[in-house]
Amino acid sequence: MIKKNFSLQYYNTFGLNVKADFFYEFNDVSDLISLDYDFKNGKFFILGGGSNLLFTRDFNGLVIKSINDKINIVSEDNNFIYLKVGAGFVWDNFVEYCVNNNYGGVENLSLIPGTVGASAVQNIGAYGVEAKDIISKVYVYDLENNRAEVLSNKDCLFDYRYSVFKKSKNNRLLITDIEYKLTKNNHKYNINYGAVKDKLLNKKINLTNIRDVIINIRESKLPDVNRLGNAGSFFKNPIVDKKKFLELLQKFPSLVYYKLSNERYKLAAGWLIEQAGFKGFSLGRAGVYSKQSLVLINKGGAEPNEIIKLSDKIIETIFKKFSIKIEPEVIFV
Ligand code: EPU
Repeated sequence: MIKKNFSLQYYNTFGLNVKADFFYEFNDVSDLISLDYDFKNGKFFILGGGSNLLFTRDFNGLVIKSINDKINIVSEDNNFIYLKVGAGFVWDNFVEYCVNNNYGGVENLSLIPGTVGASAVQNIGAYGVEAKDIISKVYVYDLENNRAEVLSNKDCLFDYRYSVFKKSKNNRLLITDIEYKLTKNNHKYNINYGAVKDKLLNKKINLTNIRDVIINIRESKLPDVNRLGNAGSFFKNPIVDKKKFLELLQKFPSLVYYKLSNERYKLAAGWLIEQAGFKGFSLGRAGVYSKQSLVLINKGGAEPNEIIKLSDKIIETIFKKFSIKIEPEVIFV
């Protein structure tokens, strides 16, 4: 049933009290086929866990959300298992399920908020692993043409916090399920990230311990969405060319960066923001988290506008200081 004039306050981790004209939760494709909505002309938005977006105002259209939380084993052999998971499955519950069953590949993505569906849209990533490393297929339903389709990993054009689903012409593609390929043994552990390596010293390297260590690191740096409204990293880490990188390094020798190739360098936006004096800064009821400057927070009762003003101020200041235009990672709706 389509709900009307629906508050989204508990459906976005910033906790912003915005409303949607219409709201619809679905389980499977049959619910979509029977849905009476003009997707060609009407406005709509596909919602996951609401953990990577900023509602800038009330939404005058239909918000549609998967509540499919089924896991099916598609196939398996001695080394790999293929799992088809409903888009509405809570991401971290899926990671926990995998770790408990000794399926490897997702453990570094522990405690990321959101849903399975969003893992492909955003190509979520942390501590050296990205969703693209384990996604084998994405099942979608084309809302405008009423047609189910299956995309391969290649079709998804994954990149840093990017996929084909981010192209505006593709907003009609609703992800219904995702198939993941996970290891059953000979796990490829990814433990080179500094803090992960340090915390695993003297510990047995297995999926459970990696998950525990990562939960521990995240809890120490990132605010709990249940206590303090936020959407994780608010900005993307900017990627610059060698010329720009060398210029900056000369001016700011303590620059924090990661070399992607000889020509491309990823800079820690959190460092840039901290250097610009924003760590712990507040503007109205919006703030910059005191332990990780890449995270903007709702200090309680913030209006969308207050978050936007703070974001604009940060972008402007970073541009003045470093001549770099950082971009939001969260999606503005
Ligand atoms: N740093 C600072 N000051 C800060 C924050 C960071 O100086 O206030 C510097 C530190 O030197 C730190 C470095 O930046 O060592 C990197 O920080 P961190 O390890 O926290 O990672 P990040 O680059 O800030 C990215 C992702 C996170 C992900 C972590 C770990 C993006 C936009 N963010 O953050 O993802 O958990 O790496 O892999 O790529 C998210 O997308 O919501 C998210 C939390």
